[in-house]
Amino acid sequence: MRRAACPGSFDPVTNGHLDIIARAADLFDEVVVAVGVNKAKSRLFSADERVDMLTEVCASYGNVRVDVFDGLLTDFCRAHDVHAIVKGLRAVSDFDYELQMAQMNSSLSGIETVFVPTSPEYSFLASSLVKEVAAFGGDVSGLVPGNVWDRLTDRLAQRR
Ligand code: PNS
Repeated sequence: MRRAACPGSFDPVTNGHLDIIARAADLFDEVVVAVGVNKAKSRLFSADERVDMLTEVCASYGNVRVDVFDGLLTDFCRAHDVHAIVKGLRAVSDFDYELQMAQMNSSLSGIETVFVPTSPEYSFLASSLVKEVAAFGGDVSGLVPGNVWDRLTDRLAQRR
């Protein structure tokens, strides 16, 4: 059984994340979507909300589950018998930071990171941009799953 982790903040999950998760699910026997908590960072959605949204959108994949982690990703991978970390690369600008993390994670635990090129239609997509555009009233409904769009519009309306 080859198990991979797709880690991230997922605040919130976008169609670009889903593209990577779906492709990881084709490559590995099982995929754990690992939602980083990191209490030092302020988030629009709580960890439970992010897990709920991901669980709903990943329900159609038989070999994908969603979990949270607080601490080192390599500790999570060890505890869950994860053999590889899968990360999407949108552009060259992602590469330096992702390479640094991959090498640090490898030096901590020997775990491999597998980079998957983001599909071109999602290469500009980031949770931070989705939130910013939505906060100014822009329509990002085509860039996130329907359940995320509903929660995003609700949350932003509460903040107005
Ligand atoms: O969606 P993001 O913000 O790109 O996700 C980054 C994440 C959560 C994958 C990364 O920050 C992470 O792995 N954090 C856990 C803490 C850790 O292991 N840090 C060392 C990374 S080399």
